[in-house]
Amino acid sequence: PSVAVIVVAAGSGSRLGHVEPKAFVLLQMRPLLDRALDSIFAMREAVQVIVVAPIDRLMDARRIAASVSARHEAPDTTTPPPPSPAATSTSIAAPPSRTVTIIEGGRTRQDSVDRGMSALMPSIDIVLVHDAARALTPAVLCDEVVAAVRSTGHGIIPGLPLVDTIKRIAHSGAILGTVDRSELSAVQTPQGFPRSMLADAHARAAQNGRLEAHTDDAALVADAGLPVSVIAGHPLAFKITTPEDLERAEAILHAATA
Ligand code: CTP
Ligand code: MG
Repeated sequence: PSVAVIVVAAGSGSRLGHVEPKAFVLLQMRPLLDRALDSIFAMREAVQVIVVAPIDRLMDARRIAASVSARHEAPDTTTPPPPSPAATSTSIAAPPSRTVTIIEGGRTRQDSVDRGMSALMPSIDIVLVHDAARALTPAVLCDEVVAAVRSTGHGIIPGLPLVDTIKRIAHSGAILGTVDRSELSAVQTPQGFPRSMLADAHARAAQNGRLEAHTDDAALVADAGLPVSVIAGHPLAFKITTPEDLERAEAILHAATA
């Protein structure tokens, strides 16, 4: 494959407040990591999947990846196709093959991304970084990020316009002004980059001791003076952070299966 997706799932989920780490919390019977991987496995092209998990959850992560992988396998690959000319071509849509690597996470998200990058196969030239906590992200958004990185050679991040009116305030709570909403975007993951850009930006930030100063990969790449652009995000790519977010995800799935 030429594309890798690093799925960061090594956080504790302190704001969600469950005993188990957030990526292993169940959402309608399936862990968030399972749901996040489902979308990655539904991408159009073959990708290397790198799951970054807490050190004491590596076996769980492997088991979840294996079960997602099994669900996405061709229904029956052992039966040879019927001997018609059409069937002997590649007209049978077999799912593209996936390579899954499980890596132990770090103390911060950026550490975890860093560790994930250490597992990239030599053939990879585009890297997506995705939060396992964005468990309902549609596969098409991942495909769109890959396509945009390919066509522009830039870093690409999905973002949504803000709906609320945004105020700049003082510590006292006093209003200082209204921010021009048209200049703002609420950004999501997957964030995609040419491999060399992400690697250079990480190396630079690590060297300058600024790895922790950034809350996403785009900030790190932009800080290195490299181009990053926003494409249209997706409402379902929201991050499950609080118990209310998990309830919202439950409600969305419930409505979809009702
Ligand atoms: N993450 C990670 N390694 C860390 C911290 C975060 O891989 N050391 C991952 C999380 O697993 C999550 C994503 O980064 O998929 C986004 O982070 P966030 O939503 O903040 O998750 P947590 O850090 O787990 O949650 P909290 O901040 O509430 O503790
Ligand atoms: Mg966090």
